[in-house]
Amino acid sequence: MCGIIGYTGPLEASKILLEGLSGLEYRGYDSAGIALCMEDSQIRVVKKAGKVKNLEEYCRQQISGTAHSGIGHTRWATHGGVTDTNAHPHRAGKVVLIHNGIIENYHALTEKFHLEDKLLSQTDSEVAAQVLNCLYEGDPLAAIHKLIDLLDGSYSFCIMFEDQPGAVYAIRNVSPLVAASTPSGSLIASDLTALIPYSRQYFVVPEQHIVKLTPYKIHVYHLDDTYTKAYPEIMTVNWNMDAAMKNGFPHFMLKEIHEQPDALRNTILPRVNKGIPDFGEDGIPDSIFKECSQIQIIACGTAMYAGMVARAIMQPLLRIPVTVSIASEFRYEEPLIDEKSLVIIISQSGETIDTLAALRLAHRCGSTVLAVVNVKGSTIARESNYVLYTHAGPEIAVASTKAYSVQLAALYMICCRMALVRGKYTREQACSFLADLLDVIPAMETMIAQKEMIRDVASHIISSPDAFFIGRGLDYAFSLEGALKLKEISYIHSEAYAAGELKHGTIALISDQVPVIAIATQEHVYSKTISNIREVKARGAFVILLVKENAVVDDNLADIRIRIPDVDDHFTVFPIAAALQLIAYYASLGKHLDVDQPRNLAKSVTVE
Ligand code: G6P
Repeated sequence: MCGIIGYTGPLEASKILLEGLSGLEYRGYDSAGIALCMEDSQIRVVKKAGKVKNLEEYCRQQISGTAHSGIGHTRWATHGGVTDTNAHPHRAGKVVLIHNGIIENYHALTEKFHLEDKLLSQTDSEVAAQVLNCLYEGDPLAAIHKLIDLLDGSYSFCIMFEDQPGAVYAIRNVSPLVAASTPSGSLIASDLTALIPYSRQYFVVPEQHIVKLTPYKIHVYHLDDTYTKAYPEIMTVNWNMDAAMKNGFPHFMLKEIHEQPDALRNTILPRVNKGIPDFGEDGIPDSIFKECSQIQIIACGTAMYAGMVARAIMQPLLRIPVTVSIASEFRYEEPLIDEKSLVIIISQSGETIDTLAALRLAHRCGSTVLAVVNVKGSTIARESNYVLYTHAGPEIAVASTKAYSVQLAALYMICCRMALVRGKYTREQACSFLADLLDVIPAMETMIAQKEMIRDVASHIISSPDAFFIGRGLDYAFSLEGALKLKEISYIHSEAYAAGELKHGTIALISDQVPVIAIATQEHVYSKTISNIREVKARGAFVILLVKENAVVDDNLADIRIRIPDVDDHFTVFPIAAALQLIAYYASLGKHLDVDQPRNLAKSVTVE
């Protein structure tokens, strides 16, 4: 949610922090702020509601002099509205801190430390700053340790103490932090995009360890009585800074839509051995596929919709129950999973807190957890029994595009491997399935190349307050993601319905010129879907129909037809996804909205 950066070293800190915050802004973007340790060792806090651009402008007016250490924050509001005062950093006496996460017992701490009259903001984070200040007697490690003992919730903190110039402290529980010691100084951040310009080597800050950044060294301490040193594993980033830049595209979203064919190649090809999926290099044994009696898929948002598509592919083929759950619901249920269940967790970031909590519940139930994750070394990746990394590279736009397609590709490969090891597929059938999967790459390229046509399609819906997506079977699963994409970036209220279900209530909302985006790519239910389209057309809907290239369609069935390249029915999701992403993109653009950073959203949801 919030973006965090800390720096100490020989360079000008304000520049590094502000540049880092621009790169992290997709995590949260309602306010931003920095704290700098100035030459006289005083800490200067500058913060402002609004985007990082506002803060940059404000800093130019407010800051004179140089600083070589500091911390910076982009906020996604949880406690307290979007105001300058609620923005981070928060100061309390000698303590200045930034926070990502939620302190659940902030109210009890406010009472315990009699903070009612001291607090300036409405945030839980300022309570942590005040408590830390009460506990601080000149020893940062001891004070942070005492603070952590008192806190309930998830957090990552970067902290400066006014009498410890040049040092930045950090600690985390659940919320992510990565750090790098570089020739340009020491850096810590909530994600890699802020570190990459300085280093390809980094480490994931271990939970419940205190990190101390000094200009040329980073120390990591266990939270024990003597603060023994820890040496986390150094990792190497597998993408470069270009991947996190727009590279000539007007928006990250459009760039990421275009990156999908390459992301698919990077995810699929390294796992192809003699024409069939092989996860040997990923360390995933066939036994987990062979021995399970059911599959439980868990995820949030777009990742969950990728799971819905996977379910529709897996269950009929594998003939075992496949259930998809929303992580934030699953974790409070009493799930029917056990040691015979294979739990597949899907997450782009690997940090979504509800997904992580569901994973931990799956472990408690004794299930084997296989994670499909994009971010290397993320918490979900580390806590799962097995990981199948997708290779989308960094996804910066809040609306997920390429992460979705590679999640699908990974899930299709899992399905194929499972069918093979469970005797549902012969080698020939597995080869043919994989060949069909590879065919989606040129199909996606062809679809993306038609973006100008899709821009025109989108122009027909931008003035509508509502839109409906309909489809049956797999087409319904695609519709769910299509509707999410459209609503999240165009703010057009969009709902997806199983085409046959529409008449049980929702058809009451269909009237003259209401856009209905109908997907009809599944041969075995094609005629049924067409009948449902006629039902909405008869009520005046403006129908945009997505069908396969060679489908026979009556002229008067739809107002607009989008023909998708011819791929096997099981694989139409890939070109359909590209088309629906482009419709959403151009609808948002047509409404002059902020495509990459839509209102109220955040890329990585680390609060419950
Ligand atoms: C947020 C993002 C979505 C994403 C979801 C799950 O809502 O805006 O794009 O699908 O979180 O995130 P994850 O990182 O777990 O895939």
